[in-house]
Amino acid sequence: MAYRVLIADDEERMRRVLAMVFEEMRDVKVVTASNCVTTLDYLDRERFHLIITDLKVPEMGRLEFLRAIKSKASDIPIIVLTAYGSVVSAIDVMKEGVFDYLTTPFENDILNLAVKRALKMGSLTIENKYLRQALESQYNFGNIIGNSPQVVEVLRLVGEVSKTDSTVLITGESGTGKELIARAIHYNSNRSCGPLIVLNCAAIPENLLESELFGYERGAFTSAEKTKKGRFELAAGGTFFLDEISEMSAAIQSKMLRVVESKELERLGGTETIKVDVRIICATNKNLEDWVKVGKFREDLYYRISVFPVTLPPLRERREDIIPLAKHFLKRFSMKMGKAPIILSKEVEKLFMVHKWEGNIRELQNVIERAVILCKGNVITSEHLPVSIVRGSYTVEKDKYQALDTSVQFDIPPHGLSLDALEKQLVTQALEKSKNNKTKAAKLLGLTRGTFRYRLQKYGLSN
Ligand SMILES: Nc1ncnc2c1ncn2[C@@H]1O[C@H](COP(=O)(O)OP(=O)(O)O)[C@@H](O)[C@H]1O
Ligand SMILES: [Mg+2]
Repeated sequence: MAYRVLIADDEERMRRVLAMVFEEMRDVKVVTASNCVTTLDYLDRERFHLIITDLKVPEMGRLEFLRAIKSKASDIPIIVLTAYGSVVSAIDVMKEGVFDYLTTPFENDILNLAVKRALKMGSLTIENKYLRQALESQYNFGNIIGNSPQVVEVLRLVGEVSKTDSTVLITGESGTGKELIARAIHYNSNRSCGPLIVLNCAAIPENLLESELFGYERGAFTSAEKTKKGRFELAAGGTFFLDEISEMSAAIQSKMLRVVESKELERLGGTETIKVDVRIICATNKNLEDWVKVGKFREDLYYRISVFPVTLPPLRERREDIIPLAKHFLKRFSMKMGKAPIILSKEVEKLFMVHKWEGNIRELQNVIERAVILCKGNVITSEHLPVSIVRGSYTVEKDKYQALDTSVQFDIPPHGLSLDALEKQLVTQALEKSKNNKTKAAKLLGLTRGTFRYRLQKYGLSN
């Protein structure tokens, strides 16, 4: 890529010297302007990566000219050149947000270096802006899929609370979208330009968690060679998301209580009280109320963090969200893998509707990613699905799919089922799987040979 540099200088000789310096840089293209009208005109019409100017514009005041440039190209770094002893003070210029300031005459190497630094900074700024925009749009409430009344309500609550500084407690099974909601709250709050610090309490060994959270002073313990800020401090001005909050020892819980209450802490081994301006969001897949009852979680801390509780229901309790989510992931993965649009077969939609989704949305997302990889055409069929999903369903009546999970838990579908038909299916399947070996088949169902034989007779399956 060629960088485009705009040189705005009233002196013909200077423009030539500068252009010569840039000739040596292969990836730079130079455009020159000799007065302020041409300069501002260029900025209206074209994109530049760097502006170099001596600010000598008779038509306008120097700082006024600088501000006019800034208003048209706020992201583009500016290098100002001034003759030694000029009336423009470096401080005034730097205050206007100029990247660098060089006095003439200058060594070519110095200009060269300043230009390289400015171009690098400029591309970082643009990259950063682009990444931030991408990040913010990813956590836009509009990108959180869900038409079920439960999710619509969650989004309404979250939309309200994101504008405040209140502590939020998000509960829900693993994979229901707790972290997504926490991030959405941050990026839709007035702290969105501040940091979002995430810590999974379960992922950090107990003995390290305390110093991770609160930081430590030099010499607080043998390996503490330098003072280190904790995550609470790093989140200052932004949001601190503590995931799996149940996984905290009693000692840490009591320290947490203080920070949540007063936004104050001391580093390990320190005596200075540090104020932290931080918004706290906690998440858990446990029922914290139960943990409080059995004494595993402090009651006072629980009340402090559950000021604004948000509960994400498991996917199986909001089945109307399954297909919209599946289509959302389908679109995302097919685009990411550069494939043409892909659809779900009717059979797959039915299988999805009755699957138990114990891993919730994360499981669905993984299933779709795998299917998109395996799919050679533009329709996902059952052959692209993991067996657990295909095998987990069967027909009891014409066209009606019911879920049979291999685990002990089983959900009776809302329209009910026939226990006899279910049992018959199981017995038949057990025989098929064991290739008609009755002892093995009985074992598959946790039955004795005798009971199994009785069932075979009951369904007319014994021969
Ligand atoms: N409502 C939703 N719409 C779109 N994607 C979602 C939704 N809920 C969850 N996801 C995605 O599912 C995955 C799991 O969500 P995550 O927030 O990590 O769950 P949890 O923290 O509860 O385990 C993430 O990739 C997330 O982006
Ligand atoms: Mg999570």
